Amino acid sequence: MTESENKGQISKSHTSGGRILKGQTLSYLADPFLGEPTAAVRHHAAGAVWIEDGRVRQVGPADEILRAVPDLPVTDYGEALIMAGFVDCHAHYPQTAIIASYGAQLLDWLQKYTYPAELRFADSAHARQAAEIYLDECLRNGTTTAAVFCTVHPQSVDSFFEAAEARGLRMVAGKVLMDRHAPPALCDDAQTAYDDSKALIARWHGRGRNLYAITPRFAPTSTPQQLEAAGALWREFPDTLVQTHLSENPSEIAWVKKLFPDCPDYLGVYEGCGLVGPGAVFGHAIHLNPREIELLRDSGAAIAHCPTSNTFIGSGLFDMQGLRDRADPVTVGLASDVGGGSSFSMFATLRTAYEVAQLRGYSLHPAKAFYLATLGSAECLRLGDRIGNLAAGYEADLVVLDLASRPLIAQRMQAVEDLWEALFVQMILADDRAVLATYAAGERVYQRAAI
Ligand code: GUN
Ligand code: ZN
Repeated sequence: MTESENKGQISKSHTSGGRILKGQTLSYLADPFLGEPTAAVRHHAAGAVWIEDGRVRQVGPADEILRAVPDLPVTDYGEALIMAGFVDCHAHYPQTAIIASYGAQLLDWLQKYTYPAELRFADSAHARQAAEIYLDECLRNGTTTAAVFCTVHPQSVDSFFEAAEARGLRMVAGKVLMDRHAPPALCDDAQTAYDDSKALIARWHGRGRNLYAITPRFAPTSTPQQLEAAGALWREFPDTLVQTHLSENPSEIAWVKKLFPDCPDYLGVYEGCGLVGPGAVFGHAIHLNPREIELLRDSGAAIAHCPTSNTFIGSGLFDMQGLRDRADPVTVGLASDVGGGSSFSMFATLRTAYEVAQLRGYSLHPAKAFYLATLGSAECLRLGDRIGNLAAGYEADLVVLDLASRPLIAQRMQAVEDLWEALFVQMILADDRAVLATYAAGERVYQRAAI
C-alpha cells in the first residue's frame, strides 16, 4: 500500500472534498440468485472509490475518477479488492467469551455455557469491556455492521451502543427478553421487557448510526404475555427491527409445540403476536414446514443463516437452495451467531455455508455467497439502500482484502482464471489476515499490522 496522506495509525482524517481508494472494486447491480449470478456483479480490475462525507460518491475505473478529481488524497491498495464491509445479521456479543465451548447441543449449551456468561453482564464494566473486544474483533474481520443480541440487562445495550458510537459504526442491537425457563437473574417480565425496551429505543434508536431491535430470545423463554408485549412495542415503533430464533434444533421445536399447543407451528407463535414482517430477522430457520416458508416469503420477514453455528452446535443443514434459489425467494442473510458460531470471520462463515450446501447437493456460487455476506444481510435489516454495497450514495463502510494473504493462498491465486475462482479461493481459504483495512463511514477504523 502507498499513501499520499499520513501513514500509520488508525486516525480520523477529515479531508474536505473526500478521498480516493485505489484497488480492484466489487459492486452488486442485482440479486445474483435471480439470474445469471456473474451478471449481478460489477468488477473493476483497476478501480477506485471516491469517498466524500462518509459516503461513496463514485465507483469506477481509477483513471476516470482520478481525471475527474485529480487533487484528492489517494490511498493505493494495489491489487487488493475493495468491497462493502461484511454485514453479520445475527450475533451475540455477550457470548464472545464462550465461543468454542465443548460438547453440547442447543438447549444444554444454553444452560451450561450461555446463561452463566450472560449473568456477568449485570456489571456495566464487564459489559463495556466485552463490547470493546467484540467490536474490535468485528473490525479485524472486516465486519462493519452486525445485528446483535445483548443480555436482559439494559446496561448491556448501553455499553454496546456506546462502544459502537465511539467507532462510528452502524450497528443493530437490543435487550434480550426472557421471562421464563432461564435463571431468575436473567429474567424480566412482560411489563419490564416492554418498559426497558421502550426506554432503550428512546435512548438509542436512530442516535448516530445505531438502530434498535426488539429482541425476544426465542419462544420457549418468553410467556405469551411477553411476546404480546414485544409485538405491541413493534407496532408502536415500526421502524425498529425484531430479532429472535426460529426452528434451530429438533428438541427446541418439540418444546415449542408443547408450550404453545394452539399455534400451528413455531413461526405461528411469533405470527400470532405480530412479530412477523419486514424487519423481523429469524436466526437459523433450519427445520421449517411449507407453511412457515410461505409465511416468511409472503410477509417479507428474513432469515439469518448461521452455518458455523449450525455445524458447531450440531443443529442441522440449512436449505439454501430451497429457500433462496427460486423465483420467489425468502430474504436470507449470512450470520456468525457468535458464540454458538465458531468464528467471527465471514470467510469461515462463507466456507461453512458452502460446505453445508454441498452436503445437500447444492453448490453456492461465490457471487451469491459474497452477496449474502453483504447486501443480502443488509436487506434482512431493511438497510439494503444504505449499506452492504459499494455504490454511489451508500455509506462508506468498506473492507480492503489482500487476495494473497497466506503463502498457500498466494500459490493458489497464481492458477485462478477469473474473478469467481479468485473469490471462491478466498471464501474457502482466507481468514482475518486477508483484511488489510476496514472503513466505517469513510474513516479507516482498522488496519492490519505487517504479517
Ligand atoms: N436459541 C435461543 N438462544 C440462543 C442463543 O443464544 N444461541 C443460539 N444459537 N440459539 C439460541
Ligand atoms: Zn443466536
